[in-house]
Amino acid sequence: MPPRLSSAIAWKKLQQHQKEISRTTLSELFAANPRRAEQLSVEASGLFLDYSKNLVDNKTLALFDALAEELGFTAACQALRQGNPVNHTENRSALHGALRDAHGTSVYVNDVDITAGIQQAKVQMAEFVDALHRGNTLGGSGKPILDVVNIGIGGSYLGPKMVVEALTPYQQKTVRCHFIANIDGTEITEVLENLNPETTLFIIASKSFSTKETLCNAIAARKWVCQNPLLEAAIEKHFVAVSSNIPAAIEFGIKESNVFPMWDWVGGRYSLWSTIGLPIAIAVGMTHFQAMLDGAHEMDQHFFNTKPRDNMPFLLAMLQIWYNNFFAANSHAVIPYDHDLRSLPEYLQQLEMESNGKRVDSTGTPVDYATGSAIWGGAGTNGQHAYHQLFHQGTQLIPVDFIFPLTTHNPVSDHHAILIANCLSQSRAMLVGKTLEQATEELLQQGLSRDAAKKLAPHKVIPGNRPSNTLTMEELSPARLGALIALYEHKVYAQSIIWDINAFDQWGVELGKQISNEIYQTLASSDKDAHYDPSTNQLIKRFKEANRK
Ligand code: F6P
Repeated sequence: MPPRLSSAIAWKKLQQHQKEISRTTLSELFAANPRRAEQLSVEASGLFLDYSKNLVDNKTLALFDALAEELGFTAACQALRQGNPVNHTENRSALHGALRDAHGTSVYVNDVDITAGIQQAKVQMAEFVDALHRGNTLGGSGKPILDVVNIGIGGSYLGPKMVVEALTPYQQKTVRCHFIANIDGTEITEVLENLNPETTLFIIASKSFSTKETLCNAIAARKWVCQNPLLEAAIEKHFVAVSSNIPAAIEFGIKESNVFPMWDWVGGRYSLWSTIGLPIAIAVGMTHFQAMLDGAHEMDQHFFNTKPRDNMPFLLAMLQIWYNNFFAANSHAVIPYDHDLRSLPEYLQQLEMESNGKRVDSTGTPVDYATGSAIWGGAGTNGQHAYHQLFHQGTQLIPVDFIFPLTTHNPVSDHHAILIANCLSQSRAMLVGKTLEQATEELLQQGLSRDAAKKLAPHKVIPGNRPSNTLTMEELSPARLGALIALYEHKVYAQSIIWDINAFDQWGVELGKQISNEIYQTLASSDKDAHYDPSTNQLIKRFKEANRK
């Protein structure tokens, strides 16, 4: 039985249509319709998406709609919203949307309305944050806590870290937030060397409370605190936990009242809205944290109540599928032209690649089409001096999402105008390129001889006709950041519907964890020989020789 998508009528029509549209260019599409830019733009939740610089026409968009209809897109969205077990391999809901519905619309998991628990956890967060900000949270030696260190990895790190960074202008100045994720001892060493144990509190953030990196770092942090006997006697004053595994957190030594609950129906990479977002609330306060939730909720409403043609997450999803599945563009770049969004691409890597890096469909049948893209990027304008060359003259198509706020929190001379001029220059250069004639003429104008110009010009040709999206917002505020993150969450889910894959499990990471535990035993023992493949064996041998005591 072929996968559902492969036999979809609209999918086959898109395959045919790709040949048709490849015979035209973006410049021709703009020339044919003076209103193209305004018609291929959409606003939602304070975000403005200009998707007119994409290799699509009305027929493409109509086929996107037809595919959504054929694959039951709307029903799948409602299934997510009402808490159906969309994570079917773990028989779990994915109710990150419920975390940001301030109206507390009832949602039931196993016949229990989860809204009360959500509200209680937010009250627990608010009380904790308020005491911290008032200087009423004292360490074992009676001094107020001044530094909070979040120990967590993956979804227990990337979201909070990215948001705390993105909302720098909104940070309060009394308590500083720090993050430790990697098991590499360098990270914890570099973070703790500037902190005072007496005034430092750790958040052990781990949904499972079994992630090795996090537990090892938590033990190292506890040792660091316990160097001071005063603090050792009151160790519970220096640790709280965020976890769905409360018994394990208590066993580690966290007081039960210092455990912030999270739930199985929130995926790790979708959890920054939950108590995993505690560092965010500490950094910017509960008011801004709630504003971020509200912005995300606005995007939820847009996603669940807007037909595909005007549905921003659906459009981003299908545009990326268009290039991924019909133009063999298997990587996608996200380039925020905003220093405070510099970690957004890294956050989106987990969100997109751990969600949609899947190879079997909902029936367990291996798919015969591409699924999740490789996501990468970084802040502009830096990338222009690093990898944009590949966008402009590389041999592979790499679609780009450009993101920028119309106004800046930090006006310095005319820097913001220069920054945005650069962002717009990149999408325009990808659109129009530079022909051989233009390159030759330019060189002649510069005074080169005709022969010299003829020789150099081919190297300066830029093909253009390369697609990009541009997303803007009035300013990078908590509400707009919430809407932006929710936009990408729903884009990922929309893609999983089309590809018929599970966006909410991550079985692929289990093998690595299992093998790393085995290899660690080999590395740690003096007599255990390596019995793996020859490459791994020789590398283990080199490690042992270099670290022989
Ligand atoms: O990489 C696997 C993973 O389970 C991620 O999905 C998750 O965000 C991360 O590890 C951390 O998991 P935990 O919060 O349970 O420590």
